Amino acid sequence: MSNWRKTGQTAVITGGASGLGLEAARRFAAAGMNVVIADRDESALETANAELIEIAGTAASIMSHICDVSDAEQVAALRDEAFSKYGAVHCLMNNAGKGTRVGAPWESLKELKQTMAVNLGGVINGCHAFIPKMLEGGQAGVVINTGSKQGITRPPGNYAYNLSKVGVLAYTESIANAFATMADCQLTAHLFVPGFVYTPMISKHIPEKPPFAWTAEQTIDFMLPCLDRGDFYILCPDDEAPRSVDEKRIQWNADDIIKNRRALSRWHPDYKDEFEAFMKS
Ligand SMILES: NC(=O)c1ccc[n+]([C@@H]2O[C@H](COP(=O)([O-])OP(=O)(O)OC[C@H]3O[C@@H](n4cnc5c(N)ncnc54)[C@H](O)[C@@H]3O)[C@@H](O)[C@H]2O)c1
Repeated sequence: MSNWRKTGQTAVITGGASGLGLEAARRFAAAGMNVVIADRDESALETANAELIEIAGTAASIMSHICDVSDAEQVAALRDEAFSKYGAVHCLMNNAGKGTRVGAPWESLKELKQTMAVNLGGVINGCHAFIPKMLEGGQAGVVINTGSKQGITRPPGNYAYNLSKVGVLAYTESIANAFATMADCQLTAHLFVPGFVYTPMISKHIPEKPPFAWTAEQTIDFMLPCLDRGDFYILCPDDEAPRSVDEKRIQWNADDIIKNRRALSRWHPDYKDEFEAFMKS
């Protein structure tokens, strides 16, 4: 197991009141860590806080903090509280995110700005607030940013969500490289890419779990050994897209540039047969 995931170490998780963030919080609490969950949903936060205290067996190692990650001052206040209560942070999981519904890429400007502010801005605010103090502490630790397969293959239909998650990918790569090339840096950065996971973000729109969707438990079960191995790209499967399928989809997207095909050719009728043949090959 990683040397940061153990009794007395501290994890801060945004979007920690629900879904993937809450499941990660459960695991960290069960490992004896101090766990700080931050979320803008006050009532979900209260329920999650009580559950985590139960898991930890003590209220002393659990803290919840109401915070809108799109507001840098609120994220700085979260950092101050976490450091003043626990003295150090070993795991920062920037995970808060929102789904969104938008029109054509030249429409829904307000929704675009809100999505960018939460899904990308929240990650940036978290890193700016926490990383300098984590580096200063000199202790081993991880920064986990939650991206999406939509930030890798960029399917048409939700340009705002795609754009926000493309940003998370690019930003997290920059951080990982900066850590890896810094003398004596004890931190590593990781891009957590869930598959299709049946969390409240999805159940809001789809009342019954599709059989191929994974649960948050399965997805966090997959994430933890990847972190232990030091993987940067934590590409999680679901029962519709195992890794072999994801690899081909990613390859096809990269080949759009290399082969000078039209943008997002996978979703254009001209390439339907070729894409299907490629996936079968
Ligand atoms: N569920 C999936 O299939 C899936 C797939 C790929 C990526 N993701 C990503 O995983 C992350 C977690 O999502 P989830 O599926 O667990 O959804 P979820 O809705 O269960 O959890 C997201 C949490 O983030 C919180 N949140 C939203 N906006 C916030 C803000 N401005 N400030 C603070 N908290 C805020 C919500 O209140 C909620 O508790 C998100 O970044 C999401 O984009 C999810």
